[in-house]
Amino acid sequence: MKRRAELIVALDTASRDRALGLVRTLRGQISLFKVGLELYTAVGPSIVKDLKDLGAEIFLDLKYHDIPNTVARASAEAARLGVSMLDVHLSGGATMVRRAVDEVEAVCSLNRIQRPVLLGITLLTSLGEESLASLGLQRTPLEQVLTLAALGKDAGLDGVVASPRELAALRSKLGPDFILVTPGIRPEGSSADDQSRTLTPREAVEAGADYLVVGRPITGAENPSLAAREILRAIIL
Ligand code: C5P
Repeated sequence: MKRRAELIVALDTASRDRALGLVRTLRGQISLFKVGLELYTAVGPSIVKDLKDLGAEIFLDLKYHDIPNTVARASAEAARLGVSMLDVHLSGGATMVRRAVDEVEAVCSLNRIQRPVLLGITLLTSLGEESLASLGLQRTPLEQVLTLAALGKDAGLDGVVASPRELAALRSKLGPDFILVTPGIRPEGSSADDQSRTLTPREAVEAGADYLVVGRPITGAENPSLAAREILRAIIL
């Protein structure tokens, strides 16, 4: 079966001007851009509006994790900003996730805005088996990821953010319609930076990814537009 995957460029910078400049350069090729903790903390929520004014759609990657009421209200505020995707930590539990989904749906229907895609964070890829054991969890990282992803699906999420090496197992357990977003992508021959166990763009799509999050291979390239074009070409299967 042919899958179509979309590219999300991570705007990992503290500079408003740099983020806007990257979107101006790439907006003819890329529609989705990721605003994470660094950019959002440095510039504030106005960055979402400024980027949207340039035609960008936004994945607001703030990984909410708090008591259900707080996460639900923060998620609703993110939806009111008009973002296209946002995420919460699945380890916050089923009640927290369900409350976030309900509150986002309520605010979107009240304000007649498009409901953003709601994603769950399973397990940070920085946590390996030893870190899990030190947290008192006796499972392997993959078992934990599959358990949390199933919890997210039951609680009404549209998909999860997952590391490339978990994609195939998630796709087979959660079915064809559950959205899988993956970072840790490196085109052949490019620097791994601080990522480990990376996949190439094509491998990630073949393993079942719907969206690939790519930062430095594009934003740090001499010619970001050319780097994006090469990745886009590689993911047309
Ligand atoms: O520059 P690079 O392509 O490594 O950027 C990947 C993006 O995906 C960064 O914004 C990073 O924070 C994010 N990410 C990740 N690994 C995860 C979750 C998110 O690299 N497990």
